[in-house]
Amino acid sequence: MKIAVTGATGQLGAIVVEELKKRVPNENIVALVRTPEKASALGVEVRTFDYNQPEVMTAALAGIDRLVLISGNEIGQRASQHFNVIEAAGKAGVKWIVYTSLLHADSSTLSLAGEHMTTEEALKASGIDYTILRNGWYTENYTGSIGGALAGGAYIGSAGNGKISSAPRADYAEAAAVAVTDESHRGKVYELAGDDYYTLADLAKEISNQTGKNIPYKNLTESEYTRILESFEIPAGLAAAIASWDVSASKDDLFDDSRQLSALIGRPTTPLSESVKAAL
Ligand SMILES: NC(=O)c1ccc[n+]([C@@H]2O[C@H](COP(=O)([O-])OP(=O)(O)OC[C@H]3O[C@@H](n4cnc5c(N)ncnc54)[C@H](OP(=O)(O)O)[C@@H]3O)[C@@H](O)[C@H]2O)c1
Repeated sequence: MKIAVTGATGQLGAIVVEELKKRVPNENIVALVRTPEKASALGVEVRTFDYNQPEVMTAALAGIDRLVLISGNEIGQRASQHFNVIEAAGKAGVKWIVYTSLLHADSSTLSLAGEHMTTEEALKASGIDYTILRNGWYTENYTGSIGGALAGGAYIGSAGNGKISSAPRADYAEAAAVAVTDESHRGKVYELAGDDYYTLADLAKEISNQTGKNIPYKNLTESEYTRILESFEIPAGLAAAIASWDVSASKDDLFDDSRQLSALIGRPTTPLSESVKAAL
């Protein structure tokens, strides 16, 4: 029984491979990557795989029973790329796809939701068995800005008092490995998020407590935040997208209290304090 993982040289995919290695023999795991040289440390079979090359993907999926399809990172290209993967999987005889979607993809105002919904629909129409892991925000999306907050004396954003139920990549990666190795998760759609929510003011308070510095949260309008992100040399389109995701966060689009992630991984999700400590 072979399990393949796309995006295995990415930040999430590499942890999924490590979590799979704890659960199945290494020879049953295949890393699907577009740059094989980057995958040598994974310690499993590596096959070349590019979402834009359907024939290469069909060949690479030969003999694969279960596929963890980690969503791509080329925003705007992903619906067609994921469709290519699902079609190739169908041709190759893959029996089950576990897909990493977005929390509440069917109702979220996040601009990312559309591509995930299109993929979910393609998956359901494909006739291949599926499990949909609707991943919430990575805590790292926010803890990655701690250095900037310390340098600037404030944590900035546009998320207002929005409730954020994030979890670190490691928790979602473990969930993917659990889901694809346990038949009981076939056909399920899970909303995955951290057990406890926080606001960006809570995050700023946690940073202040752990550093002994006074780091307040400063809420900005969407256009102010976009302008500041651009001043950090973030490309205009991405800066606007990041600010818009915070505005969605202010509407509680990153909030979920169903605790399905901790149920899946059989332990509490990693608390914010630990993620802040790790980032510091
Ligand atoms: N929930 C969240 O907060 C959140 C945040 C960011 C992203 N995401 C989503 O979750 C996914 C995984 O997150 P991550 O942090 O692991 O992202 P990441 O480090 O950027 O990894 C993305 C992976 O996709 C691979 N990839 C991109 N285009 C490809 C193509 N055309 N063909 C084959 N592989 C391709 C990349 O390959 P290379 O290694 O060769 O570059 C990389 O391995 C992201 O791609 C995105 O869809 C979610």
